Amino acid sequence: MSKNVLIIEGDGIGVEIIAAAEKVLKAVNEIDNLNLTFDTAMLGGRAYDQYGKPYPDDTQTKARAADAILFGALGGPQWDGKTERHLRPEAGLLDIRSDLGLFANLRPAVAFEQLVAASPLKPELVGGLDIMIVRELTGGIYFGQPRGIRTLENGEKQGFNTDVYKESEIRRIAKVAFEAAQKRNKRVCSVDKANVLEVTVLWREVMEEVAKGYPDVELSHMYVDNAAMQLVINPKQFDVLVTGNLFGDILSDEASMITGSIGMLPSASLDVNNKGFYEPCHGSAPDIAGQDIANPLATIMSAAMLLRYSIGAASSADRIQAAVGRVLDAGLRTKDIYSDGMTLIGCEAMGQAVVDALTE
Ligand code: NAD
Ligand code: IPM
Ligand code: MN
Repeated sequence: MSKNVLIIEGDGIGVEIIAAAEKVLKAVNEIDNLNLTFDTAMLGGRAYDQYGKPYPDDTQTKARAADAILFGALGGPQWDGKTERHLRPEAGLLDIRSDLGLFANLRPAVAFEQLVAASPLKPELVGGLDIMIVRELTGGIYFGQPRGIRTLENGEKQGFNTDVYKESEIRRIAKVAFEAAQKRNKRVCSVDKANVLEVTVLWREVMEEVAKGYPDVELSHMYVDNAAMQLVINPKQFDVLVTGNLFGDILSDEASMITGSIGMLPSASLDVNNKGFYEPCHGSAPDIAGQDIANPLATIMSAAMLLRYSIGAASSADRIQAAVGRVLDAGLRTKDIYSDGMTLIGCEAMGQAVVDALTE
């Protein structure tokens, strides 16, 4: 039976990185006879301009029906502050995550040996790094009510958001983390702020409870401020990190720099049935959009995750990962991962280089 992949560019560099990743995915589809079919839809700022909302009905219909979704990035200064919050490009991304129930966001930070020189950290800290950040994606302060900006009695305005997690939400993301750890190095570090925030006191309790069902996995806890520091002084101490929506957003951008660039960090966002939405962790990079200099590798590796988790085509996913390795071996680099002696190429050429390396 053929499976359907919905491809969404988004805004800014989303257009360029998706063009590159789409080429790779379609080439693998041919080479490995995966029998995938493809469709396209819009999400974000350009979708708002065209349809009046960032998550248009047409996209919703297609997204609900698709087996998997490959996405670029969205947002940009042209939409900042011009529309109500629920019509902003970013609201489109939050809406689709919530609509599809994509609660489990997997963000693997893996350092390629070839890129050790591109990381701002010392080579010995980076070489061999392989950590998996499991970020809860449909709860926490991103979605908690009440929220808003209100005017106080004295006329001063006050902004407010609410950080909330139910036991059931914590339990299901915990299970994802423990199951991931069972296939890896059997260690989960849960990151919270239980010394200050009640919501994470409960988070810690539920993590402990779930851990009892996974006696082969070692659970530890760390406060988020310390975790931010430990990621820089000793990132290799971690195997799986599990945390809430906001902390996961921040820590994954930090972890990306250990791998050399935010342009190297892919992600998978999964629902309870492993239906998935795959996107790089970075944004639409308005500062470099349209210049053919963005790094498409995070998006290309997100396509590999799509094949692995939603299509069940692990060997095709391995084929893409191996091709990325060969391109890096050949010294080809986009600007963000460039170092002395390497060959500087653009986004489109990087996509083509990966396509060419698929069958080497
Ligand atoms: P950003 O990730 O877009 O960019 C941060 C920096 O990293 C910029 O200097 C950018 O040039 C660089 N960068 C990002 N991706 C790159 C790549 N593939 N190759 C080379 N360099 C890359 O974050 P930002 O500047 O804070 O946000 C820009 C817009 O993107 C905002 O509208 C924001 O809301 C949105 N955003 C969207 C997503 C998403 O779609 N998932 C994620 C983060 C931010
Ligand atoms: C990400 C982004 C999004 C988030 C924004 C654009 C809503 O930063 O995917 O990491 O905060 O989750
Ligand atoms: Mn982010």
